[in-house]
Amino acid sequence: MAKKIIITIDGWSSCGKSTLAKRLAKELGYIYVDSGAMYRAITLYFLRNNIDIEDKKETKAALKSIKLEFVYNPVSQQSEMYLNGENVEYLIRDLFIAEKVSDVAAIKEVREFAVAEQQKMGTKKGIVMDGRDIGTVVFPKAELKIFMTADNAVRVERRFKELYEKNPNITIEEVKNNLEMRDYIDSHREVSPLRKAKDALILDNTDLTENQQFEKAMEWVKKIDGRKSI
Ligand code: DC
Repeated sequence: MAKKIIITIDGWSSCGKSTLAKRLAKELGYIYVDSGAMYRAITLYFLRNNIDIEDKKETKAALKSIKLEFVYNPVSQQSEMYLNGENVEYLIRDLFIAEKVSDVAAIKEVREFAVAEQQKMGTKKGIVMDGRDIGTVVFPKAELKIFMTADNAVRVERRFKELYEKNPNITIEEVKNNLEMRDYIDSHREVSPLRKAKDALILDNTDLTENQQFEKAMEWVKKIDGRKSI
């Protein structure tokens, strides 16, 4: 029987991490955790409550009032993000959150809070988690670490299509600026910046279809968990 492992997927914004992570989790019967959703939900809480993120005391106190949960929705067949009992899955995908989330995710106390929650979810293994520091900080001993990347233009196009469906007023320039800003902040922050873990395998999906990237990742899984076929 295949052994249960931890799979981490890190990489730049909008390079398809969650698409791959969800498919792997489904195939393997694993739990999928979107760690970015947690930073997005914390950002929503801070914005709604006018938390001054420069004020450490205020930030720490606010974190004590935050309860994050992933709840499975049988209709969408996805786990959705709940903030203090409210389903915020749709709201947190908006550009107004994307514009602030990297600043919030750069705060040490916020990261400690989120990382502790994420580590609890992995104690039984059988998990695929995507983010920026999952292979380096959250699960440094994970059995399979994937670092995803894709050309900038391809990433902008993909994210634009996604956001345009919700908001036809959005421009490609706005999306491009937001992606570049987030990549810069995420990879230059002091605490757990986005880095490829030394033992991570690189998956550049610029020219790969979703099926091709899935098959490539499953080849890696098979080598590690002992399964014979996909
Ligand atoms: O994956 P995403 O775009 O939903 O993530 C939103 C933001 O959260 C992203 O700009 C960086 C931050 N993030 C992080 O710092 N660490 C993670 N493990 C996941 C996300």
